[in-house]
Amino acid sequence: MESPDKSFHMTTDEFRRYGKAVVDWIADYYDRLESLPVLAKVQPGEIRASLPAEPPLRGESFDAILPDIEKLILPGVTHWQSPNFFAFFPANASAPSILGELLSAGLGVQGMLWATSPACTELETHVLDWLVGMLGLPEEFLSSGAGGGVIQDTASSSALCALLAARERATNFVTNRSGCDGRLVAYTSTQAHSSVEKAVQCAGLGRENLRLIEVDDRFAMRPGALAQAIERDRHAGKIPCFVCAAVGTTSSNALDPVAQIGPICRDHGIWLHVDAAMSGTAALCPEFRHIHDGLDFADSYCFNPHKWMFTNFDCDCFYVADRKILIETLSVLPEYLRNKATESGAVFDYRDWHIPLGRRFRALKLWFVIRHYGVEGLQHHIRRHVQLAQQFASWVESDERFELAAPVPLNLVCFRHRSGDAFNQELMDRLNRSGDLYLTHTRLQDRLTLRLCVGQTNTESRHVERAWQRIREEAAKLEAAPRSATR
Ligand SMILES: Cc1ncc(COP(=O)(O)O)c(C=O)c1O
Repeated sequence: MESPDKSFHMTTDEFRRYGKAVVDWIADYYDRLESLPVLAKVQPGEIRASLPAEPPLRGESFDAILPDIEKLILPGVTHWQSPNFFAFFPANASAPSILGELLSAGLGVQGMLWATSPACTELETHVLDWLVGMLGLPEEFLSSGAGGGVIQDTASSSALCALLAARERATNFVTNRSGCDGRLVAYTSTQAHSSVEKAVQCAGLGRENLRLIEVDDRFAMRPGALAQAIERDRHAGKIPCFVCAAVGTTSSNALDPVAQIGPICRDHGIWLHVDAAMSGTAALCPEFRHIHDGLDFADSYCFNPHKWMFTNFDCDCFYVADRKILIETLSVLPEYLRNKATESGAVFDYRDWHIPLGRRFRALKLWFVIRHYGVEGLQHHIRRHVQLAQQFASWVESDERFELAAPVPLNLVCFRHRSGDAFNQELMDRLNRSGDLYLTHTRLQDRLTLRLCVGQTNTESRHVERAWQRIREEAAKLEAAPRSATR
């Protein structure tokens, strides 16, 4: 018979050994990352087909497990941390952040209540307060006043929490009790991220009650059109409750004019959420803080260190000007979570600031990043990314075969070859197939547009130069190809 004391756990000595091996593997991966094809080349189902059909009955040695990362997993990995990754928006990372993540996993605490791990809550509050100063955000967002910040998993969750709080404020918390009556309306621009539409669905407003406001020729929301839509809804007996403005839209990095949208929201008592998921990080540099003009009007705001601030996914910083509304919206207190600290009213219980109950110690990685780089280090790299994107934009402008498709306020360049959609599609596909770089696309003015975003941690001038060289090379080959192939 098996001894009841028999253990299958990894010993701490084994953990020490294999932990070092994993860190070495990651360091080696970063050393060779630049030479790997950026986009995974596997076909659907290929990775699964290479895995055993059944799980192992007997545990395996870690010596056998780790090499399978190389053999079975890497072929299906798109290298988001490659300096040649220019697609979507980045999800960048850095060594201090990865180490923070490792420590968070090692401590393995649940920070749902202050009482379940006080350091988890207090470090988070502290670091989010630091960021208010670092980004020059309104003081209302500081925890020392009525507001405060919390780490959410994503900007999508922030949009949902903001909308739920807006919904409850507009209905005096009746909706939480009785459900939606179909009269609440939300507004965002035609260029807003799809997470706003998802939030509207999840919050029970119904997609028909989301108004997509038209944009100007810079793809930014027209405040006049917003005001008209609100008036129309009021006359129709609807209850406008939520506006989401974007500071840096996903498609083209357009900056909605928050300073003009804000007064409209204030006059109508509408909750204003500002989504700066990608571009908020730019405000680390005083010269880019203008992107936040008008943020004083915002009831809530978010930006993603997991996009551009060298903090690995997931880490979205969400701020509210009045935390009481958010907490009253999301708080449900069962007996088993009651405790003295909560009842004292002297602590934050972050479970009341978002949807899940459980929460990881995510502030550690953010703390490590800020301490490792310092404000100056972060500013240096953000500035550099913006400079490189601006340089790329100037090359596009000076090549008559190409054109810019939108303004370039920061680090995203939207551009296209003048030969039309099929040509641009083929150009992008060829570049991505080559593995040399990874670009994605959008549609602007109903034309296929290529997007190049400079935001990967290790992207330097030579990577951007090479990207432009490869784009021009492939374009030249396509220009020389028979017309029918691409037009
Ligand atoms: C402006 C904007 N908002 C929201 C999101 C959604 O981000 P997340 O994955 O954090 O939900 C994105 C993603 O690119 C974005 O660009």
